[in-house]
Amino acid sequence: MRRPLVAGNWKMNCDKQESADLIAALKSETLKEGVEVMIAPTFVNLAATVDHTQDAAIGVAAQNMHQSASGAYTGEISGAMLKSIGVETVILGHSERRAYFGEDEALLADKVKAALAFGMQVIFCFGEVIEDRRAGKHFDVVAAQLKGALYDLDEAAYKQIVLAYEPVWAIGTGETASPEQAQEMHAFIRSNMAERYSEQLAQDVTILYGGSVKPNNAGEIFGQPDVDGGLIGGASLKADSFAAIVNAFPV
Ligand code: PGA
Repeated sequence: MRRPLVAGNWKMNCDKQESADLIAALKSETLKEGVEVMIAPTFVNLAATVDHTQDAAIGVAAQNMHQSASGAYTGEISGAMLKSIGVETVILGHSERRAYFGEDEALLADKVKAALAFGMQVIFCFGEVIEDRRAGKHFDVVAAQLKGALYDLDEAAYKQIVLAYEPVWAIGTGETASPEQAQEMHAFIRSNMAERYSEQLAQDVTILYGGSVKPNNAGEIFGQPDVDGGLIGGASLKADSFAAIVNAFPV
């Protein structure tokens, strides 16, 4: 079933105290009922975040994970470790992981499979760069990303997967895809899912939009028929703007 969901990706921001302060500020905001809210702090603050959100309707996600359960992978974090501290959701495939850490479709396919095997929820990110869009290749690029990382999975796997379309040219740039551009791509994603799987799944899968979502544009973007919510970077680092984005949800 489609889930109205707004997730804050804190990226490499907020130390221990800043994370605690931001969570406290978020808990003092009134958040619209019926919208699922999640935050994704850095690994070192995940356990404390799980504790600090225990008494709030705020979910916690990791920003990445390794595809192996354990082993000689210095500096890495496994799904088993995330689960052991109560983290049930992981963001995979973010464009910054792809661009700066060389994550490609084959690696992401392994990471997704590992997360699913651990019983975790995956927020799977993908989207085209500006050159692809200028060349009119954005639909092909998105189709290839979905196929490469996800289309080996069977339909049942999507009970654990949320998609997040994030045009790279709109991430952290202040340039948002127009509501029409977001809707057009989300509708394309559903038709692509329908071709590979079924019309039922295409209609049921949750698809977030991400890229410079702010309080002043969130309502219009979330109001598009095929947009189910947002993955928020910069604007999730302030409790009032994140709350305003959640509360812009037309539910
Ligand atoms: P942004 O980031 O909201 O700062 O553009 C979105 C994201 O990277 O998920």
